[in-house]
Amino acid sequence: MQHKSVLVVGGAGYIGSHVSHGLINQGHKVTILDDLVYGQKPPPIKAKFIKGNCQNKDLVKRILNDENIDCVVHLASFIEVSQSVLNPQKFYSNNVFGTLNLLQTMLECNVKKIIFSSSCSVYGVPLGPLNEEHARDPNSPYGRTKCAIEWMIEDFACAYGIRYTIFRYFNAAGAMPEVGLGEQHEPETHLIPLLIKAMLKDKPVSIFGSDYETPDGTCVRDYVHVRDIAEAHNLAIQRAGSAHKNEVFNLGTGQGFSVRQIICALEELMGKKALVKEMPRRPGDPPMLVASAEKAERVLGWKPQYSLLKRILKDAIKWERLKNFISEQICHPRL
Ligand code: UFG
Repeated sequence: MQHKSVLVVGGAGYIGSHVSHGLINQGHKVTILDDLVYGQKPPPIKAKFIKGNCQNKDLVKRILNDENIDCVVHLASFIEVSQSVLNPQKFYSNNVFGTLNLLQTMLECNVKKIIFSSSCSVYGVPLGPLNEEHARDPNSPYGRTKCAIEWMIEDFACAYGIRYTIFRYFNAAGAMPEVGLGEQHEPETHLIPLLIKAMLKDKPVSIFGSDYETPDGTCVRDYVHVRDIAEAHNLAIQRAGSAHKNEVFNLGTGQGFSVRQIICALEELMGKKALVKEMPRRPGDPPMLVASAEKAERVLGWKPQYSLLKRILKDAIKWERLKNFISEQICHPRL
């Protein structure tokens, strides 16, 4: 396999840090560009870290040239669906305008390969099987920014020969606590880390909406281990060396779990009851998002290895315990 020099934009984020770790393990040279807006730290991996974002064209240009970048993996975006409803301009400016800058700078530097992190939220409220042919009809400003970027990349491919792989992630979850990687958004909005944090401290957790048209009334999602998502990027980078077609892939497992099912599974693993509060629906949440991931397997040879729910939750619990342990040590060091 030919090793590449890869720029990972957003490589200090939750998914980006796992992707960067996976690429380094495959022997690629990784440079991370990240502005650490979610309060995270540069990940503890052997990547070159540069603080900044893709709105800064001069910085991006310098990195593309100095590091001889072959391929860009772009994961930097604001992600909270409900925030995007309240403050869409922040999302369009960062997600869409940032990507336009990145693509323009790539063209100026003759770097033509990009792997872009899109989201199943481009589908909106799905009707029928959720394969990549399903219409894009996002129902939140966040989803619309991802959709706008997909269109922009497709147009840049037609006009200027940009080569792309677009991944539509379903719900990334899990962690790699053994290498110090996991979810650490500030503020955290995702179900699994919020539930684990609350259960570890015996605090209440909210269920946002219990009157959806789903089997138990709560929203159903397709949870995929972040480690499997990282592996899909390794496969895409290998493919980027050959004369491949531009493609879009769903990254999910094909199996959905409701909020209540996640709570039950965690109660079983943690040996305690969750203190549940039923709250109104959260704006922008579709009732059910479950992937058909047949194409990723057929074309890329991607098979999720770590995405059984129990494995995802066990890794997420270990990671939250590790973070608690570290913050305890910092607040109350044993001398
Ligand atoms: N939920 C709760 N209580 C909480 C947090 C979440 O009931 O305290 C519910 C949500 O309402 C939703 C489900 O749990 O029904 C999953 O919510 P998450 O916030 O964990 O994930 P989302 O499905 O909303 O969104 C995530 C990412 C998006 C991405 C999307 C794709 O944040 O960037 O997955 O499904 F687009």
